[in-house]
Amino acid sequence: MCRAPVTHPKVFDPMPRIIVTLINGTSREFDARPGQSTMEAIREAGIDDIEALCGGCCSCATCHVHVDPAFLDRLPAMTDDEDDLLDGSNHRTSASRLSCQILLSEALDGLHVSIVDEG
Ligand code: FES
Repeated sequence: MCRAPVTHPKVFDPMPRIIVTLINGTSREFDARPGQSTMEAIREAGIDDIEALCGGCCSCATCHVHVDPAFLDRLPAMTDDEDDLLDGSNHRTSASRLSCQILLSEALDGLHVSIVDEG
């Protein structure tokens, strides 16, 4: 069963701005839609550093990011599934999250994530 998080944003929710550091070290900054996942926002921005093979169902870990520590306590709690998937990465740190499990909202405006090179 897919474990993609679901929210129902209000029509006029402000667009959160996110900053993404790519595998090559450069950064991109862009607006995202409230309610979409960070993985979806990254993909929609045309960034293909993130594979997201399962489409956001929390079953592949190919959307691994490191989150700016300043935002970690604003994120939803990690599920056991996400925790288990991240355990399979050699690049797991205390800042690791699966970007498909981070839903964007005004509260995360300015969120900075770095895409993890699992290759
Ligand atoms: S896209 Fe597969 S776990 Fe996030």
